[in-house]
This record gives sequence, C-alpha cells and structure tokens, in this order.
Amino acid sequence: MQTKEPVRELNLNKALECSVEAVHAAGRLLRRNMRSTKTVHLATAHDLKLELDVRSQEKIESVLHRAFPGRPILGEEKSVGDITGPIRWVVDPLDGTVNFAHGIPHVCVQIALQKRVPTRNASTPNYQTLLGVVYDPFQDELWTAVRGEPARLNGVPVHASNRRCLSEAVVSVGFGKSDKTLDAILPCFIQLAHTALKIRTMGSAGLGLAYVACGRFDAYLERGISLWDIAAGGLIVECAGGKFWCAKNPGDSSFRMIASNKGLFRQLPQFT
Ligand code: IPD
Ligand code: CA
Repeated sequence: MQTKEPVRELNLNKALECSVEAVHAAGRLLRRNMRSTKTVHLATAHDLKLELDVRSQEKIESVLHRAFPGRPILGEEKSVGDITGPIRWVVDPLDGTVNFAHGIPHVCVQIALQKRVPTRNASTPNYQTLLGVVYDPFQDELWTAVRGEPARLNGVPVHASNRRCLSEAVVSVGFGKSDKTLDAILPCFIQLAHTALKIRTMGSAGLGLAYVACGRFDAYLERGISLWDIAAGGLIVECAGGKFWCAKNPGDSSFRMIASNKGLFRQLPQFT
C-alpha cells in the first residue's frame, strides 16, 4: 500500500474532481434510502449510528481509492492507511445522521484533502486543508473550495455575509453528542438567543459551515466536534472570506469551533 505520497506531486484538480464524484455517489445512495427502514448500528443518549453511514463511507472509499490508490483516509466510520502521513483524505460520509434517521432531509457528505505541515511537537502532527467539498444530496447543492481560490456553490463563487450587528444575525449553534458538550455550549446558546436576531440548530455541521460560507448563516458555533465534521467546511468558509477558528479540546480528539463572517467574529462568545 502506497502511504508516502510526495506532496509536491499532488494534482488538486484531479483530487477535486474525484471528491465531487465520490460525494455524488454517496449522495445517490442516501437519496435512494431516505424513505427506507434504517438499520441502527449504535444508539447512545444523544446520537445514532446507522448501517448507511458505513455503506456511504465504503462508496466514497472505493471512488477515492480508484483514482488515488492507497492514499490514507481518516473517516468517521473507519480509517484506512497511515493517517499521520504527509497527505490524507478526511471523510464524513453522512453528516446529520440523526436528521437522516428521522427522515429530515438536512444532511451532507463531506470530503477534505489535507497535507501535514511542520510543527514543533513531532508527536502531534499538524495538518492544513487543501481542498474541501460539502454536498447536500437533497437540495443538490455542492460547495467546493481549493485553498487560495474562491469558494463556490454549484460552480458559482459565494461570499460570507457582511452583517456587522449581532442583533441582525442568524447564528447556528450545535449541541454535539455528549452531556459534556451540551453543558459547555448551553450558556453561550442562552446568551446568543437573547442577543442575535435568531438562533438555528440544524444538526449538520458541514451544512452549518457551508451556510456561513454563502451568507445564509452569519455565524456557527460548536463546543465538541470532530475533525471530519469541520475540515472541508472550515476551508470553504475561509475561501468565502469568512473567519474559521478551531482549537483542540483537552483530553480527547474533539475541537471547539467558531465560524462567522469577518465583522461579527469579535462579538461572538470566545472559546479560548
Ligand atoms: C454531527 C452533526 C451535528 C453536530 C455533531 C456532529 P454526524 O455529525 O454534524 O450537527 O452537532 O457534533 O457530530 O454524527 O451526524 O456525522
Ligand atoms: Ca459529522
């Protein structure tokens, strides 16, 4: 298996094409199965995992590996290859699983390509996202971004909003999957419920970020979220002229995150 792929030989156009093909393939699978009876693999207090999460990931994996054999994949359902190597895919095969399980057509499929960047602490590798793709199979909306280029929605450049006042802003807040993340975000939810125009909690981090990138949301915040939830959308927000900030939470592999247009960022609760 090829795990030490030289970063300088990356073909980002081919990677983008292949990511788009993969999210479309997974999207077709999800559309076909929206009304079927779902097999639940795991149910916890605030989360569900479906057989379709796994099937969607397998579909994506086969498309990515046909074009780029052996390139490692860090996926929500499983990882393949050396995910601490110089280059890796980050895959969320069904973002918004609970929505999907309940027949709510607000979900997405997301893929990012990341390269390792130098860091002072060699035991915790650092990665930069080079491209990101978020696909909503029910609205047929595809957000794409390649670092250094404009973010696009169905091929058309998009921009974060330019609202400057929280009192005019639509802010999305995610609750995560554990009581710990719920407790961490609730004070901020209450504060924003009083200060923003409206709060939305929609259940798909990828779409939350994509909506910030095209100005539907003015900001989006989470206290405990995984890399595959935010890698693609974070780059899309930045390429759309927005601000994306995230930091690792102590003690586990989760992140806290704030995305917004540039003008609002400082008015939002800070998680540092
Ligand atoms: C979840 C969704 C949700 C967010 C959670 C994520 P999943 O992803 O994006 O909006 O609040 O933190 O884990 O499990 O549906 O892929
Ligand atoms: Ca997810």
